[in-house]
Amino acid sequence: MTTLITGGAGYLGSVLALRLWRAGARVRVLDNLSHGAAGLLALFGRENFEFVRGDLREPEARRAALAGVDAVVHLAAVVGDPACAREPELARAVNLDAALALYEEARRAAVSRFVFASTCSNYGRMADTSAHATEETELRPVSLYAETKVAVERALLDPKSARGGCDAVVLRFATLYGHSPRMRFDLTVNQFTAEMLVRRGLTVFGEQFWRPYVHVRDAARAVNLVLDAPRARVAGRVFNVGDTGENYRKIDLVELIRGQVGEADVRFVRRDEDPRDYRVSFERARRELDFQIERRVPDGIAEIAGALRCGLYTNFEDAIYHNTPPPDATAKVAGVVEGR
Ligand SMILES: NC(=O)c1ccc[n+]([C@@H]2O[C@H](COP(=O)([O-])OP(=O)(O)OC[C@H]3O[C@@H](n4cnc5c(N)ncnc54)[C@H](O)[C@@H]3O)[C@@H](O)[C@H]2O)c1
Repeated sequence: MTTLITGGAGYLGSVLALRLWRAGARVRVLDNLSHGAAGLLALFGRENFEFVRGDLREPEARRAALAGVDAVVHLAAVVGDPACAREPELARAVNLDAALALYEEARRAAVSRFVFASTCSNYGRMADTSAHATEETELRPVSLYAETKVAVERALLDPKSARGGCDAVVLRFATLYGHSPRMRFDLTVNQFTAEMLVRRGLTVFGEQFWRPYVHVRDAARAVNLVLDAPRARVAGRVFNVGDTGENYRKIDLVELIRGQVGEADVRFVRRDEDPRDYRVSFERARRELDFQIERRVPDGIAEIAGALRCGLYTNFEDAIYHNTPPPDATAKVAGVVEGR
């Protein structure tokens, strides 16, 4: 069994690659290393692990990556609303055009399962947040990022796509948190914890809006479950990945973090509108795949705070930990490049 993970050097991909490899799979990663190679260093040079450095937009890179593959987990993307807003053409080319090309070529290459990483952001702003969005809830993408995800979902779930025996499965992940070999400090739980612990200050926009969260290792376990599940249970299906008890408002996160790291100067900037305000039900994955999370947000806060306290990260604001570098980090990187 050879599994191709596109974006396997990324935050989720590097955790998943290690997990599948440890479980005995042959793992191939296609990645252009746009956020560095740290995520793959533990696997590089190991038996049953292959790395193809390439750009998903290039047919030759896709061909090399797909040769002899049984399953594809498609994670590579321009990830997040700010990153897509900053480079909209790139976002469309990678997240939409190249994703559809990869799926089409995977079908032709007789790949049996294609797992697509989508997002709960697709639910957008819900009219009634006292209700929980399920996989059947109408999608209301409110960013280019979510629009590209919804468009790929629709193409993959089109009944015509099922021809040829390549089973598409869509996973709508909650917002991830926790430690990864390719660390991200631009994800809410990680970022809030770092700012409150290290900077002792944080500005929170729209503290009353809801979102679901899931630990990156639980998310990787969900992908593993889907790869191993019987065809009839997952083919052509959508699963939200998370836990219904893990929907939080930002203000709840601040209180949880404060309880673990102590006082910080937190400034709330009230917003009456947030395009992403949603609570999500994760009952389908629990019922049909027996997926249950092993970590909750407080565990993730403890994990991140512990890593920062013991000095694992000397500068969490470094651009390498952010998909859209904070303004001062951009200046720092530009300075280094110009200085060469
Ligand atoms: N992180 C989250 O909270 C979250 C939530 C929901 C869904 N997702 C989805 O999960 C997937 C992984 O997200 P992540 O947090 O690991 O992001 P990430 O940015 O850490 O990883 C993306 C990886 O894709 C690679 N990549 C980007 N463009 C490429 C290209 N043109 N060719 C080859 N490789 C390319 C990058 O180098 C990177 O290693 C994405 O599809 C994302 O939309 C993530």
